[in-house]
Amino acid sequence: MIANPATKYAPFAPIALADRQWPSRTITQAPIWLSTDLRDGNQALFEPMNAERKMSLFMELVRIGFKQIEVGFPAASQTDFDFVRRLIEEKRIPDDVTIMVMTQSREDLIARSVEAVQGAPRAIVHLYNATAPAWRRIVFGMSVPQVMDLIRHHVGYLKRLTDAQPATQWTLQYSPETFSATELDVSLQACHTAIETWGAGPGREVIINLPTTVENATANVFADQIEWMHRHLVPRQHIVLSVHPHNDRGTGVAAAEFAMMAGADRVEGCLFGNGERCGNVDIVTLALNLYTQGVHPQLDFSDITAVARVAEECTSIPVHPRHPYAGDLVFTAFSGSHQDAIKKGFAAQDPNGLWEVPYLPIDPADLGRTYDSVIRVNSQSGKGGIAFLLERERGVVMPRRMQVEFSAVVQRQTDASETEINGSEIWALFQQTYLRGTAGSSDAIRYHGHKLDESGQGIELDLSIAGQRQQVRGHGNGPIAATVDALGLPLRVDSYEERATGSGADAQALAIVEAALDGVAGAGFGVGMSHNIVTASIQAVISVANRLQARRQPSHSGAATAATADTTA
Ligand code: KIV
Ligand code: ZN
Repeated sequence: MIANPATKYAPFAPIALADRQWPSRTITQAPIWLSTDLRDGNQALFEPMNAERKMSLFMELVRIGFKQIEVGFPAASQTDFDFVRRLIEEKRIPDDVTIMVMTQSREDLIARSVEAVQGAPRAIVHLYNATAPAWRRIVFGMSVPQVMDLIRHHVGYLKRLTDAQPATQWTLQYSPETFSATELDVSLQACHTAIETWGAGPGREVIINLPTTVENATANVFADQIEWMHRHLVPRQHIVLSVHPHNDRGTGVAAAEFAMMAGADRVEGCLFGNGERCGNVDIVTLALNLYTQGVHPQLDFSDITAVARVAEECTSIPVHPRHPYAGDLVFTAFSGSHQDAIKKGFAAQDPNGLWEVPYLPIDPADLGRTYDSVIRVNSQSGKGGIAFLLERERGVVMPRRMQVEFSAVVQRQTDASETEINGSEIWALFQQTYLRGTAGSSDAIRYHGHKLDESGQGIELDLSIAGQRQQVRGHGNGPIAATVDALGLPLRVDSYEERATGSGADAQALAIVEAALDGVAGAGFGVGMSHNIVTASIQAVISVANRLQARRQPSHSGAATAATADTTA
């Protein structure tokens, strides 16, 4: 990079449009969309699409709902010519879809393009020529009057050819290529030359398509240019004002949105922003931006993943994992605070209300994405995501303090493994951490069975303590208190929760006990799971006793001794 870029790059001069209206407008309806995936998008591929790929992308564009599709540059490529013929001869073009073919301003190319679309009920012929000073001077060596002669001559030629084929309903699209770098009065003159030569009027609309062939200024400058053209084009009511933004500055979407606010009726672009250099404007993002403002885009992206896969197969260009709305990772929250907020948002979301789940600008379900991928857990994640997964996949609702405790356990695991952890692994870790003291475990106190006396206040526990099978008895005002008493430990139960998980024959009671043990800092949780709620409660007490004992210094060992080390809590 050079020290002073101002010696090499000139800023784009602002447009004199003091009373511009577009900044205070909002977009209230979808534009007419034109997909140029099969032309501009195709031209930009390492390996242009073959006939089969073109056909499957064409069918997908039709399925999505495009009513205008630029199907190729038939005068420049035999594949494109044959493809257009095939569309027409095999009657692949639905009645409500119009195809467009592009041609440079040369008689032989115009004639070949018209030949390509012969027999189509409707066709748009897209004629273009470059108008900006650098192209006039460096590329073509033409003055402004010569450019106007070129347009007049070639639009006139196209008019004569198409007038001779009245069975097709013909529309002219004229693009002053490099519009965004052209003086506005020259662009206007070029467009008026095309419009007058073609003879725009009732039932004979002309599409004036204004490209940022190379994006060269901030998006507001383009909006000013469009508003200026919108005000000056005549006869405006018979002109469809179209824009064709590229994305060299990464602001193609903003430019298109501002242009719609400034008077554009139609937008040309490609799926996922494919196209020359940094791409054409991304129609998926534009359309879904509209959708999230409450405006239906009239395009169907309800299975966005399927659309992405078709586009990838046809173009061999992968959709970036963080592509707006469509990327594999865009409905995935790794950060703990985000996960927490999303979890709360899902819980609070009124199914019939306005969407307001934090961090998710759109309901993934509207795009055919499931919530499965919403929460993923790695070492950056917090309690929210973990709790969400356990609740959704296992029906386990952890009390808040337990969420904090367990998230530290998960974090130790993910820090050590340096990988993500999925729902089943979290569940395994949960069981290993909290379902302690079962008969087959290696814990100090293991539960084999119990008997309650008739009053429900006396209990006999069948346990293994430090490897020795024994029966211990206790009393209390319920099974939990009686179990604590039977264990003979200075254990204080602080909270108890129970709930059912699963349903029918699979239903299990889940008991969660929070307790503290004298001589052990802090409290801890234990869980019991059983078809019987009393059994689950007793197991939860034994579990937390094991966990707290394992944290205790050896000198404090009480009745139930020789605890095994708790490596997970
Ligand atoms: O980017 C461009 O200027 C074009 C024109 C031919 C419209 O693709
Ligand atoms: Zn283009």
